[in-house]
Amino acid sequence: MRTIMVLNSKGGCGKTTIVTNLAGYYASIGLPVVLKDFDPQASSIEWLKQRPYSKPAIHGISPFRSQSGSTRSWQMRIPPETKRIIIDTPAGIDLQRHSAIMKNVDKILIPVQQSAIDIRATAMFIQELEKLFRISPTEAVIGLVANRANQNSPSFFALQRIFNNLDFEFIAVLNQNENYAHAAESGISILEHDSPFVAQSKQDWQPLINWLEEGEDKKEKQQVLRATVSAAGYSNPFSRASTFA
Ligand SMILES: Nc1ncnc2c1ncn2[C@@H]1O[C@H](COP(=O)(O)OP(=O)(O)O)[C@@H](O)[C@H]1O
Ligand SMILES: [Mg+2]
Repeated sequence: MRTIMVLNSKGGCGKTTIVTNLAGYYASIGLPVVLKDFDPQASSIEWLKQRPYSKPAIHGISPFRSQSGSTRSWQMRIPPETKRIIIDTPAGIDLQRHSAIMKNVDKILIPVQQSAIDIRATAMFIQELEKLFRISPTEAVIGLVANRANQNSPSFFALQRIFNNLDFEFIAVLNQNENYAHAAESGISILEHDSPFVAQSKQDWQPLINWLEEGEDKKEKQQVLRATVSAAGYSNPFSRASTFA
């Protein structure tokens, strides 16, 4: 079993989009998947409610939505056949409070958009995450994902430059595509679509899926989070943030 958590305290960066599209993907290739939604707004669970019966089932767990007629431990149970657990998390997450959940995670995905505000917030968040990992070490591997990317825009180069300066690589770039909104409304994954309008977006996911599937569960060392985001390293790049488009 492999557990993947999508994390960033910045709202709107694409956590739920990544969680739901991944859950749909794993279900579509026949891997029993659990979608666990730690966001009180439960957007991933709302997505799951829209999922057509014709599509392969995904087991949803929401600590914030109680179902009448079943105990909490029954609601929270992971079915024994589960192969992938995908965890959605809220904006403004309290990392200290959620540190226990992170212990069992194999891969952490951090989506980031290319605006100066998103870059700054995400860099600060990674710094906070690093602090937590120093106190409470984890074997989880961290991967940064550029989301809603427009690769022709100068702000995309700024995004790459800033994270490269901080010694981070992007494991994948998910380009802006309005079909994500349609997929979000219909309970399906863009990766389950056959339309030519999503062909490019499906290709965007390949490096992300390869990265998620590589290595053995919980035995890898952190590869992508290589650098310490030091106070000096953090403040310097953002002094240039005003030059962004
Ligand atoms: N690659 C993308 N292309 C177009 N729209 C996107 C993309 N990723 C996310 N969105 C849209 O951005 C909005 C916020 O995304 P969401 O996944 O809800 O963020 P979060 O869960 O981090 O708050 C949603 O309306 C979603 O459909
Ligand atoms: Mg969300």
